Amino acid sequence: MKKITVIGAGNVGATCANVIAHKDLTREVVLVDIKEGVAEGKALDIWQTSSINNFNTRVVGVTNDYLKTKGSSIVVITSGLPRKPGMSRDDLIKTNASIVIDVTQKVIKYSPEAIIIVVSNPLDVMTYAVYKAARKHSSRVFGMAGILDTGRYKAFVAEALDVSPKDIQSLLLGGHGDSMVPLPRFTSVAGIPVTDLLNKEEIDKIVERTKKGGGELVNLMGTSAWYAPGAAAASMVEAIVDDQKRIFPVCAYLDGEYGLNDVYMGVPVKLGAKGIEEIIELKLTPDEHKMLQESAESVKVTMRVLDDMKLFEE
Ligand code: NAI
Ligand code: 2OP
Repeated sequence: MKKITVIGAGNVGATCANVIAHKDLTREVVLVDIKEGVAEGKALDIWQTSSINNFNTRVVGVTNDYLKTKGSSIVVITSGLPRKPGMSRDDLIKTNASIVIDVTQKVIKYSPEAIIIVVSNPLDVMTYAVYKAARKHSSRVFGMAGILDTGRYKAFVAEALDVSPKDIQSLLLGGHGDSMVPLPRFTSVAGIPVTDLLNKEEIDKIVERTKKGGGELVNLMGTSAWYAPGAAAASMVEAIVDDQKRIFPVCAYLDGEYGLNDVYMGVPVKLGAKGIEEIIELKLTPDEHKMLQESAESVKVTMRVLDDMKLFEE
């Protein structure tokens, strides 16, 4: 069975490893961190729930020992800092880019065939950095954000209508940030268009809350979320391990799709054993297309900081 590695044993990484283990998706999960003992301790704690929660997956923690990750089929990268007070956005980009690039080089040395799922922020730009460092086909390097963002959106719709979140279907496009583009036109409740169930004002409110969903949690907790992000990344792992061909919003490399080039952004894809097996191009209205363009512009502004670091010049 496949080995799965999660880099970064912080809030999101440990949660992701925990969900993968609970679902018994694989024989072994390796959790890696640079802080001495942290990955070992969290892995041991998760493993000690195996008889309680009824799973077999071995969870192993290591401090910076990439030999233990050898032969991983999927690697989830969550290492990186959340933004701290006094730290500029540009500083965060530079610090996290250095971390994810360094980690990627170590990962591919031992697992050249691995599919890589990026979680570190700013997501769209970090995914691009990992893609460049990994030198893999873009169908095997992508980022997690859309499942989290639609998860939040579905939770708000379910709350507003007092229905099960399981019955809500939705899509979302764009970068992981305030410029993301939730799509009410593609939202339904058990097949019923949400626009038949909620009025424009109610939908607008939910869309705005979704766009600021990450910030809402940072304001409440003083750090960013981890239960939903960890579970969202684990659901991508599940789709790949089981070759489920799920249609998920995923941060994918665009090479002409939606009229966008050489940029990573959230779009609907088919996710299966080969990674991204198809990028689905929706027919957008002029308004939706404009919002997507604006989102792409905001991702490109962040990209400039990475470009200025000149990390990938031949
Ligand atoms: P955290 O601070 O709890 O954990 C990060 C971990 O990475 C720490 O344990 C740290 O020691 C480790 N780390 C740092 N450099 C490393 C390296 N070179 N090698 C191995 N490990 C290293 O942070 P949290 O909450 O887990 O978030 C992780 C990242 O995920 C952040 O960048 C955050 O902004 C991002 N995030 C992204 C989301 C998304 O939707 N894409 C959602 C939530 C968080
Ligand atoms: C989130 O959306 C901050 O990306 C993080 O929770």
